[in-house]
Amino acid sequence: MMADAPLHFQTKSPTVLWQVLHRRSRTHRTKAIGLVAITFLFFFYFLQPSTKRVEPDFWTRFPSQFPFPERPEDAQVILPPRADINVNTTLPSGLDKPNPRLHVLVPASRGSRGVCRTLTSAMILGYPPPTVVGYRHESPGATESERMVERITRARDYLRNSKTVHDRDIVLMVDGEDTFFQLPPKVLVERFQSIVRSNNQKLRKRYGFAQVQDEKDDAPSELVQKYTQRVLFGASKLCYPGLLDDPGCVSVPESSLPPDVYGWKTDVYPDGSLNRPRWLNPGAVIGQAADLRLIYDEVLRLVDTHANKSGDHKALTQMYGRQEVVRELERRRTVSTFKEFMYYLVGISDATNLTGISVHLEAGRRYEYGIGVDFESQLFFSQNSSRKDVEWVKYANITKMSALQMQHGVPREHRLLLPEDIAALPNPFVQSRFAKESTQRPTWNATLDKLPSPADHSWLNISLMTNVHSATVPVTVHLDDDPKLRNVWWENMWFFPWARALLRKYVRDSHGFDAAQSSLLGGQDWLEVRGGRGGIWTDDESWITFAEICKGQERDLFDDGFGPWSKEHDNPDDPVYNQYGRLVAGKEEQDGEGEGEQEEGEDEEKID
Ligand SMILES: *[C@@H]1O[C@H](CO)[C@@H](O)[C@H](O)[C@H]1NC(C)=O
Ligand SMILES: *[C@@H]1O[C@H](CO)[C@@H](O)[C@H](O)[C@H]1NC(C)=O
Ligand SMILES: *[C@@H]1O[C@H](CO)[C@@H](O)[C@H](O)[C@H]1NC(C)=O
Ligand SMILES: *[C@@H]1O[C@H](CO)[C@@H](O)[C@H](O)[C@H]1NC(C)=O
Ligand SMILES: *[C@@H]1O[C@H](CO)[C@@H](O)[C@H](O)[C@H]1NC(C)=O
Ligand SMILES: *[C@@H]1O[C@H](CO)[C@@H](O)[C@H](O)[C@H]1NC(C)=O
Ligand SMILES: *[C@@H]1O[C@H](CO)[C@@H](O)[C@H](O)[C@H]1NC(C)=O
Repeated sequence: MMADAPLHFQTKSPTVLWQVLHRRSRTHRTKAIGLVAITFLFFFYFLQPSTKRVEPDFWTRFPSQFPFPERPEDAQVILPPRADINVNTTLPSGLDKPNPRLHVLVPASRGSRGVCRTLTSAMILGYPPPTVVGYRHESPGATESERMVERITRARDYLRNSKTVHDRDIVLMVDGEDTFFQLPPKVLVERFQSIVRSNNQKLRKRYGFAQVQDEKDDAPSELVQKYTQRVLFGASKLCYPGLLDDPGCVSVPESSLPPDVYGWKTDVYPDGSLNRPRWLNPGAVIGQAADLRLIYDEVLRLVDTHANKSGDHKALTQMYGRQEVVRELERRRTVSTFKEFMYYLVGISDATNLTGISVHLEAGRRYEYGIGVDFESQLFFSQNSSRKDVEWVKYANITKMSALQMQHGVPREHRLLLPEDIAALPNPFVQSRFAKESTQRPTWNATLDKLPSPADHSWLNISLMTNVHSATVPVTVHLDDDPKLRNVWWENMWFFPWARALLRKYVRDSHGFDAAQSSLLGGQDWLEVRGGRGGIWTDDESWITFAEICKGQERDLFDDGFGPWSKEHDNPDDPVYNQYGRLVAGKEEQDGEGEGEQEEGEDEEKID
């Protein structure tokens, strides 16, 4: 409301002047004169004393300082391996100062096929045991919007009340029903931190610093960066529908990808499939617990009043837009009008688009949440309108990798190389030293534990889902387009042919020698403190085994005919089903134990 005046004044004046100059610059003589004039104006600009402005200070009018100063990019989640200590060394001091941990939150009320794929892929890739938020808390009569509010409330409450989640911990929250993990947590955390670090350098340049005076007035005032990025959401090619004149669709930053990355129709093709992803997608988010709490508190405040099924998506879109409007108002307040005008002339204006938006801002309310999106799908790939942008490729195939971008019509194409952070990962097929001697379950079985030889298969020649346009290998895939694609894409994932063996390896690795040694050292290198492998935690802190939550989903997860998880060779009478669900060995289960049966009647589509 109060923000209207500065908006209109500054967006219009450069346009008028530009037209004047443009018309004149038709002849060489006037061009030369124009050049002289511009030079003169530049000169004038540097001599110009800085003008004092009287506009309100938007940074304080809308509280923008973070209650919690540590930055996510500085959190020491991934510790370098400690080569200096072994089992015999006395424990080094300083172990009582725990480093921040990584938590994976998966909102889901039951172990459907989609949820089990999310959990299976997270475990295979070595994520800490996921926390399934709202498990077995389905309220049967609730409307979709009530469920959405309940889901977010539970997640927020977990972040607020759980004893295992600390303010500085990094939290990844993904849609339970339709997410696949592709790369390990180390890549996730390091990419997140590096994106945030580099964006924060840009934000520092763009918005500068603010002076803050401490409560005690004798303390010297401190300079803080005005605006920082603190959380990262997935990015979408389409904005939330129906918000045409909302800042969430108009004023959010442009993509960091080149403006022609989808060819000459980039950003203009009507169905949106050639848009550069730019808008907020709520299906995946990563950030520090305290920051996410602040965001979801506000989402809950906003959805309570006008909720519908995707009310959270709408609320987050609007929050992102308003954050950018306030940042821009503050920038325009402090920037030199003349410099702004010159940048506009030269065509390097980076002003946020505030044209035609309708927004109501209340003084005293926070609009700053440190929200940003993952433009290049380094972390989160979203399938909606993007399914043709990806391919599963082996980087060792140079012929293929050299031609790939050209085949997709990417301008200035070049050969895609395996990203360095992936090349540096350990081979995923190496069994731990003592796997074969382990007496704990799952005990070694040459058939069930068969993995390809690490000499033949490495990150270089397994199929990695690659976003050809942005040249990235995303950490997670959000399957928010046609549900029919989910089975095909699952079977395309690199781990699928060996999913059961890899999952067994993950469970076994948790109680081997290396784990014992690490626990002796206080579990410093663990990503999570609760421990447990081969199961999940619920938000009310109970432990549920994988066999229990995903009972009956084995065919869709592994498609290997080895039957139920964890009962593969316990009892020769245990039933074994082939990929079509037909009994191939053992005895059919008679009583069905209730739960397994329930899963059969799911409302989910079954495509075989
Ligand atoms: C630990 O100490 C024992 C007994 O002193 C010794 O046999 C063993 O080799 C040592 N292990 C390492 C890893 O140093
Ligand atoms: C949610 O509400 C908006 C209007 O506020 C409407 O345009 C949209 O279609 C609704 N979406 C659903 C899924 O009901
Ligand atoms: C700013 O947004 C308006 C409304 O969406 C749009 O018409 C206009 O083209 C945008 N301007 C720029 C420079 O992107
Ligand atoms: C490499 O890719 C090309 C083109 O897709 C394919 O024809 C060829 O068989 C591949 N080579 C290997 C070794 O996989
Ligand atoms: C992967 O590369 C290795 C070594 O170059 C080769 O022996 C092996 O056959 C390759 N495997 C596949 C599946 O392409
Ligand atoms: C893709 O995203 C748009 C905009 O958010 C949404 O309206 C549409 O339903 C999505 N498509 C699918 C298949 O979910
Ligand atoms: C290993 O598992 C397979 C498949 O379930 C089973 O047929 C076989 O008997 C098991 N082998 C041993 C040694 O337990």
